[in-house]
Amino acid sequence: MNLDKTQGGVPDFVLMDQLTEDAMVDNIVGRFKKDNIYTFIGEVVVSMNPYKEVSGLYSKAKMQEYKSAYMYEKSPHIYSLSNNVYRKLLQYRRNQCVIISGESGAGKTEASKVLMQYLAAVSKSSSEVDRVKNQLLESNPVLEAFGNAKTLRNDNSSRFGKYMEIQFDFDGAPVGASIINYLLEKSRVVGRTVGERSFHIFYQMLAGLSDAELKSNGVSKDINQFNYLSVSQCSTVPTINDVTGFKEVQKALDTLGFSGTEKQNMWKILSGILLLGNINFRPDEAKANITRILDQKALDAAAAALTTNAGALSSALTTRSITTGVGKRVSSISIPLDLQAAAFTRDALAKGVYERLFNWLVQSINSRLSAKSTEGKMVVGILDIYGFEVFDNNSFEQFCINFCNEKLQQLFIELTLKSEQEEYVREGIQWEPVKYFNNKIICDLIEGKPVSITSLMDECSLITESTDSTLLGRMNHSFKSHAHFESRDSAKRDMTLPDNSFKLKHYAGDVIYNINGFLEKNKDTLFGDLVNAMNVSSNPLLSSLFPPLDLNSKKRPITAGTQFKNALNNLMDRLLACEPHYIRCIKPNDNKKPGVIDNERLRHQIRYLGLLENVRVRRAGFAFRQPYPRFVWRYKIICPDTWPPRRFTMRPGQDAEKTPAEKIIKHLGLKGDDYRMGKTKVFIRDPRTLFDLETRRDKEIPKVVVKLQTAWRGYIARSQWKQTKAAIKIQLFYRSARSARWMRKVKNAFEGVSRDATYGKNIQWPEPPRVLKNGSILVKKIWANWRARKMVLALTAEQQAEMRQKVLAYTIFSGKKPWDCSRRYQADYLESDKNPNSKKYIEAMAKLFATYEDTSVNFAEYGNKFNSKNKPDFRGIVVTDKNIYKHDPKNYKIKKYETPIVQVTDICLSPFEDTFVIVHAVEPHRDLCFDLGIQGEEKASEFVVAVVQEHKKLTGKTLPIHFKDSITYNAGRTPKGKGVDYTLKFEATDDPKVVNSQIRSKGQVNTVVYSKTNNPIAKKKR
Ligand SMILES: Nc1ncnc2c1ncn2[C@@H]1O[C@H](COP(=O)(O)OP(=O)(O)O)[C@@H](O)[C@H]1O
Ligand SMILES: [Mg+2]
Repeated sequence: MNLDKTQGGVPDFVLMDQLTEDAMVDNIVGRFKKDNIYTFIGEVVVSMNPYKEVSGLYSKAKMQEYKSAYMYEKSPHIYSLSNNVYRKLLQYRRNQCVIISGESGAGKTEASKVLMQYLAAVSKSSSEVDRVKNQLLESNPVLEAFGNAKTLRNDNSSRFGKYMEIQFDFDGAPVGASIINYLLEKSRVVGRTVGERSFHIFYQMLAGLSDAELKSNGVSKDINQFNYLSVSQCSTVPTINDVTGFKEVQKALDTLGFSGTEKQNMWKILSGILLLGNINFRPDEAKANITRILDQKALDAAAAALTTNAGALSSALTTRSITTGVGKRVSSISIPLDLQAAAFTRDALAKGVYERLFNWLVQSINSRLSAKSTEGKMVVGILDIYGFEVFDNNSFEQFCINFCNEKLQQLFIELTLKSEQEEYVREGIQWEPVKYFNNKIICDLIEGKPVSITSLMDECSLITESTDSTLLGRMNHSFKSHAHFESRDSAKRDMTLPDNSFKLKHYAGDVIYNINGFLEKNKDTLFGDLVNAMNVSSNPLLSSLFPPLDLNSKKRPITAGTQFKNALNNLMDRLLACEPHYIRCIKPNDNKKPGVIDNERLRHQIRYLGLLENVRVRRAGFAFRQPYPRFVWRYKIICPDTWPPRRFTMRPGQDAEKTPAEKIIKHLGLKGDDYRMGKTKVFIRDPRTLFDLETRRDKEIPKVVVKLQTAWRGYIARSQWKQTKAAIKIQLFYRSARSARWMRKVKNAFEGVSRDATYGKNIQWPEPPRVLKNGSILVKKIWANWRARKMVLALTAEQQAEMRQKVLAYTIFSGKKPWDCSRRYQADYLESDKNPNSKKYIEAMAKLFATYEDTSVNFAEYGNKFNSKNKPDFRGIVVTDKNIYKHDPKNYKIKKYETPIVQVTDICLSPFEDTFVIVHAVEPHRDLCFDLGIQGEEKASEFVVAVVQEHKKLTGKTLPIHFKDSITYNAGRTPKGKGVDYTLKFEATDDPKVVNSQIRSKGQVNTVVYSKTNNPIAKKKR
């Protein structure tokens, strides 16, 4: 709780230094001036009506702020109370109720809406629950339109009482609601004090419906055409916009699920009520005691709007049927009504129709809001009932309203004292009750036994001859010397009172009641003729509001007064079954003005609401109490015995925390009477002690903050370091454990692999764990090396030589040019049996070897050699240990000139799928251009390897091999002639006529066109 005095005063009256009415007024005024409209008395919220919007007071952010706080931790607000209600509902699973009291215009209805909005906002949400929440909130504008009116006290005064119970499920989501309404001030429909209005809905309907719609109901926008509205000379109110009001009502009715027809029926009935008021009467020309309708048109209009028979309506308004006799001899006679009685009957009908419409509306809303099942439901009840009311002329309605407020005050006194007292008993603490004014005596005067005002009213209502003055006479007789009853005839003989009135000294002030009309209003009977006239209406809604009377029933109808009394007692029972919470509303002035305080009015309300006594009770006991754990948690830092916390251990359980709490109290130096150690709570008598505690705490907090910061930073750094260290260790353990497991699996899988012919080529490797991804690659590499070594060692010398060639070819070609690595290298293909001319070839080579110094053939195969004209010549191409030869396969003559391998400078190939090889040699030796794929196999790579190997043997150098898409070479060079430079480009083709490749000459730039599909590499791939 914010104890800052800059808030204009203490947030809880209990904390006031002096306990006087003046101090209370000062405190409330001080806070009000700073826009702090709420103040606590313990858990009671006292609310001052600001008559203006206080900015930010009901924002979403504010709701969130209160949502997570305890009652005293935040400044006083309806939200703190609402949150407390909701928390207790869920925590203790006990029904809660909020009783909102205060004078008319003090802000009760607004408070109830703030409360509902908070509950809707903080409770659980789902599409179904949101529907309920929406309907709950939308019931407000509808009920206010039909049940509220502008009075002199309040522009939006509730003219009915309302108790709404919101049902929550186990999770705290609102799932339904039910509304009980109390005594609507229906007399307002036909008349009221000048300057006031009838119920909002009449004005809203006339302002909001289109001209056509109004016309179809027989009315128009002009308010002055209706006697019932013009009578109080007030139609528009600056603070009220009836057009937008009507839109809201329409929207709310839609949300609540009212149909278009239902709405139309309602507008029609309301129009009918207004038109009823325009019916006037005149005496019959011949017989003065017979009453006639003054203006037939007015009657027809009303009958049309009420869709009933004009004749029946007319006779119901001007005559009255009386049944006489019993059993078979029952007969009905019609007696005429005089002018006054006719007008009274008309008004009774208008009021009756409106009241029944209102009750139907509440019931309809209830049927829409009712929860599917009420099993295991918890409820929060919200009571927003009319406030204590004093007018210049007070009648039966004010009597009921003020009676209701007496009952609520009773409840307040009983419950606040009771709960306080109970708490002390529960906690094992002694206490003396505080004196307060108990208004039970007034309640007894009104409803007690054996004789009370209501019982006298009922008795008089039974006797046909009784009049209001009979009633007053009996009251004077019975309460002659009652302390709270006065009249001209009572013991005190107050001659200032008018003679048809009596005065009740209510808890909230004296009220003079005019007895006129009490009996009629108490009887509240609608004659059977009227009921029948409405029952036959073709408007189904209206007809349903007036079910036919049971003529044979001998039961007397319950009077309005008794009905109200019973309803109130029922309400009290409901409230008593819940845990109560209070919002006590106060109005700062009677003129609805912001920022204006009428000190006397304020003082008066404080007095009669018993707020000072409330504070006294709270203080006579102990101003402040808190459960041990929370007390210790909040204040431990002020005491060296409890701070730093390692000096005591906070174990869960009250006893564990009672000791440190005691230490804190001792440290404050409190004496025996200043505090009590209850069973679960510490009680502190003087509110100043709380200030002391808070101030000490405020002083300690900065120190703690610095300490905490230092400690925290150190702790963060240390724990980060430790965490890193630990993480590394954990990783290490983890990895080695995972590795070991994986390695075991590998070992099992590769058991006896060295005896396997393929050395484990087909063994499935176990899936390595993620941490071993890199490690497993390494292990596989080791295995691959081992396997390679094993395989190589198993080869013959010849196979090894071939293997070396393959490896060399791999290093030269891999990634540079497609080649056939799976083919066996056999070096001399011409001496094989497949060559039909192998004999001739062998002979020729033998001759060659004898003539020259060559000793071995390293490569020999047929291929195309391209001459200086780039024409392909079919040739045997032979690589020996010294030279490269071409020979003519027709005669096996060595074609000139041989190319010595040492004179080769480099070999060029394309990066494509062709099998062309270009050998560059030093001048004057000529360059060679071969296609080594014409035998259907790719032999370019084997040729290159043979030349490179020999070149290395002869020169010790590695011959450069180039892969280019454009290769230039010299053709036709001789020792004498320079020859010509040709450039080869390469191009793939889909042409099916091209087999392997062709050269397409175009001067000196020629293109090797190679088949995409019909070449040795492509065929191999397939
Ligand atoms: N908390 C509030 N903030 C702003 N205005 C308020 C507040 N409470 C009441 N009012 C104003 O006072 C008027 C009367 O309040 P209302 O709740 O209808 O009184 P009650 O129900 O006690 O008769 C409201 O119409 C509104 O203008
Ligand atoms: Mg109200």
